[in-house]
Amino acid sequence: MDVVRIFDTTLRDGEQSPGFSMNTAEKIRVAHQLAALNVDVIEAGFPISSRGDLEAVRQVAKEVRTVPIAALARARKDDVMAAVEALEPAAASRLHIFLATSDLHLKVKLNMTREQALESISSMIRLGRQHVGEVEFSAEDAGRTDIDYLCTVCRVAVEAGATVLNLPDTVGYAVPEEYAEMFRRVDASLVATFGANHGITLSAHCHDDLGLAVANSLAAIRAGVRQIECTINGIGERAGNASLEEVVVALAVRKESFNVSTNINLEQLFPASRLLSEVTGAQVAPNKAIVGANAFAHEAGIHQDGIIKNPLTYEIMSPQMVGVPERSMVLGKHSGRNALRLSLRDLGYEPTDVELGEVYKRVTALADEAKQVRPRDVVAIAHEVLRRRSTLAAEATSAA
Ligand code: KIV
Ligand code: ZN
Repeated sequence: MDVVRIFDTTLRDGEQSPGFSMNTAEKIRVAHQLAALNVDVIEAGFPISSRGDLEAVRQVAKEVRTVPIAALARARKDDVMAAVEALEPAAASRLHIFLATSDLHLKVKLNMTREQALESISSMIRLGRQHVGEVEFSAEDAGRTDIDYLCTVCRVAVEAGATVLNLPDTVGYAVPEEYAEMFRRVDASLVATFGANHGITLSAHCHDDLGLAVANSLAAIRAGVRQIECTINGIGERAGNASLEEVVVALAVRKESFNVSTNINLEQLFPASRLLSEVTGAQVAPNKAIVGANAFAHEAGIHQDGIIKNPLTYEIMSPQMVGVPERSMVLGKHSGRNALRLSLRDLGYEPTDVELGEVYKRVTALADEAKQVRPRDVVAIAHEVLRRRSTLAAEATSAA
């Protein structure tokens, strides 16, 4: 079975979005957790952007020895040399060079012709290869690049020494079939030029402007892509990048459909998500897949009843599989008696059916007013009802 490599860019693309910047100590903490997760590459920063970021990448490279460290550089000499300097202490490193290739970016942003872009790509990859063993090239805005020109860009990058070609959907504009088709076309052109065993890894890097980053990444895998660039909690420019946890869990849960594996330790996903939230101060939405507070929480009575009978009724994976300590049965106005009985048992109460009925009545009445019923509310209600045990029992007998 093929392995899909996970290139984590939480510390670079993730970090460069508003509210997510991290200092060196914070980057090192997150990088250690990424190593525990067993990602295949950690992109630690963009060294030319500031002296502080260059130092942060250097420190991550010094401290995290078990995972290759990548640094980003535009196709410019100063950028490449700053990244080379930052990567110098790494046990294993990858230089990540990028240049925009869509006509829009070439004209408006870079004021370059297509030919000038090819020349920069070739010369900067050659320069990088003199210093770092592995060079990845990214064609920024590949998703909106003329496909024939993109194939030429890829050929030139490979001839200059790049072994990983990343084709980002920089602006989150692509839809799955279209994005997959771009990779098929590029791969066919690589095969035509370099042969079927060209050994180049194609990589996907998706942004979530249309909420399609994960779907596009998965479609790319079906088209033969074997590296996915993604971030913890899906953080990244604008609407974010493809969420690492969603991509890898989709591949694990739907293994029979994708027929690929990853090297990720899935049970480290939740700890990674929580650590990132703690470091950045940005909480994930409660309904976020895999790591959100509600991902394994059940409030509706019908669902709670199903889960109690067999978790497969309403869960496609166990919380433990992704490192979530336990599922939660939330008591609210939609909850059922079975879940309430279990909650009471957890709290040390063994109510009779009559008592359970009374507690249930009060809990649902409270839930009608408050959004959620907290365990201490249930304790208070249970305590009061069970104190009146004999009275309730007598009432039940006389009613019968
Ligand atoms: O979105 C993008 O195009 C990027 C590249 C720099 C890889 O982040
Ligand atoms: Zn990006």
